[in-house]
Amino acid sequence: TPRCSSRTVATFTTPHQSSSISVLPSAVDPSSPEYLENTKLMSAAMSRLESLTRKAHQGGPAKAKEKHLARKKMLPRDRITALIDPGSTFLELSPLAGHELYPEAEVPCGGIITGVGVVEGVECVIVANDSTVKGGTYYPITVKKHLRAQEVAKENNLPCIYLVDSGGANLPHQSDVFPDREHFGRIFYNQARMSAAGVPQIAVVMGPCTAGGAYVPAMSDESIIVQEQGHIFLAGPPLVKAATGEVVSPEELGGGKMHSSVSGVTDYLAVDDAHAVVLARRCVSNLNWPKKTALVKTYEEPVYDPEELLGIASTNLRKPLPIHEVIARIVDGSKFSEFKRDFGTTLVTGFAEIYGHKVGIVANNGILFSSSSLKGAHFIELCSQRGIPLVFLQNISGFMVGKDAEREGIAKNGAKLVTAVACADVPKFTVVVGGSYGAGNYGMCGRAYSPRFLWMWPNARVGVMGGEQLAKVMETVGKGVDEGLKDRIEKESDSVFSSARLWDDGVIPPQHTRRYLGLGLNAAMGGRNDVKAGATKFGVFRM
Ligand code: COA
Repeated sequence: TPRCSSRTVATFTTPHQSSSISVLPSAVDPSSPEYLENTKLMSAAMSRLESLTRKAHQGGPAKAKEKHLARKKMLPRDRITALIDPGSTFLELSPLAGHELYPEAEVPCGGIITGVGVVEGVECVIVANDSTVKGGTYYPITVKKHLRAQEVAKENNLPCIYLVDSGGANLPHQSDVFPDREHFGRIFYNQARMSAAGVPQIAVVMGPCTAGGAYVPAMSDESIIVQEQGHIFLAGPPLVKAATGEVVSPEELGGGKMHSSVSGVTDYLAVDDAHAVVLARRCVSNLNWPKKTALVKTYEEPVYDPEELLGIASTNLRKPLPIHEVIARIVDGSKFSEFKRDFGTTLVTGFAEIYGHKVGIVANNGILFSSSSLKGAHFIELCSQRGIPLVFLQNISGFMVGKDAEREGIAKNGAKLVTAVACADVPKFTVVVGGSYGAGNYGMCGRAYSPRFLWMWPNARVGVMGGEQLAKVMETVGKGVDEGLKDRIEKESDSVFSSARLWDDGVIPPQHTRRYLGLGLNAAMGGRNDVKAGATKFGVFRM
């Protein structure tokens, strides 16, 4: 019988419901030594995550923040808080971006804050430069994070609001931010393409917009500027003086009054940051965009306490993670309609709801065999046919290897799963709850398979294989024993290492997985999104 927590009790209101949906049972014993050991180790991982996130949230050095505030500017996080609807949650992307990436400087949050926030009832992507971090200039990771936010906007059809306060390219890094396809120029390319596709682009100029940066407001559908604070120019006063000898003040050259009354580069003039935020909210209210409130449905919380995930998951990835226990703490009412329960049991598939959104869950419960891969491909085909979003719970050491597996055609059967995942034209979400190794990463919708969002738990690890195995392989190919190699690979497989490089959208507390998925589903399913059933065109399934 299911063990109910005191908070919620599963209710079956109609005979129809009770006949088709079952509440998952749980065998978790919070007093067992294993649970207590897991809690201890996961709590240590959580403390590290919390302290790194807190530090990143503080932004640039105290001196830079004081200077910023003395200029009567709001700090970027306060700007976002003022912009989004009161009481709503900002779904922040990758706050650990840039962590230990550049030896010469700390770049908290990669110098840019990005995420999805609700403005006037509309889910919007918000991109805010943090000028307290090296003048808000773009390091390579800043560019990558800006482009990722735009990708989120494009894929989920979300209006973009850019809170601009940046000195443009970080000049010593110019070769890694300027010339290539996924560099600075792509920001404006994306703005043009999104605008063309009907994804609104709104810029709020709250600080410098120099050189290339000037194109953010210039490429937007509507632009707001703060007087005597926001400046837009292709070349600042020092460069103008050097080039032509002309002496001109920043306000004269590219201030708000000039741009709003003479050049027409901006459309609305604000007296300060707070006023600019009000004007930005007004722009969103005039988008004629369907409101999020239309989506709200009733739902039940899970029967089991999500906090227990800290005692269920382990930092030792060799220990099996009972995935039904995880599903039971993520889905509405812990209700799960399992598909092909007794076939290919190392992959668990089934239907559930998260905050009232129907989803198909694909979750690892061991290594992938031919049977489990075929089951996964079948289930993904079902969800695509029906227009149901997919949630992947990834904990995979890889596909089965060896003579029997090869003779069974694991290569072609695994490929069917990879084909299904790659082609499924419904919103996909991935949470790495343990290991993400080798081709298992592909079959379970790793970053390269374009899930709308990908989150890691703090215990999660990603790599082509474990450090020990990798070092052994190198030894067998004649490279001798390299003592440092294993440790380096282990360090590079860490979730924080991954997040610092934007291989994911953030490391999240396991107990908040349901909330993250709920916010992600709201972003993917709201507004002008219409997930079409049967729209997927699959590639050739090699039989
Ligand atoms: N590349 C690398 N570092 C830069 C930079 C750039 N383009 N612009 C500023 N910085 C650094 C500064 O050296 C300073 O570093 P420090 O804190 O280690 O001393 C820090 O960012 C803050 O700059 P500062 O000038 O003190 O702050 P500010 O708020 O008064 O002014 C700017 C910020 C961005 C307006 C101003 O620095 C500026 O005009 N920079 C040049 C902008 C430019 O021409 N960019 C070219 C774009 S293609």
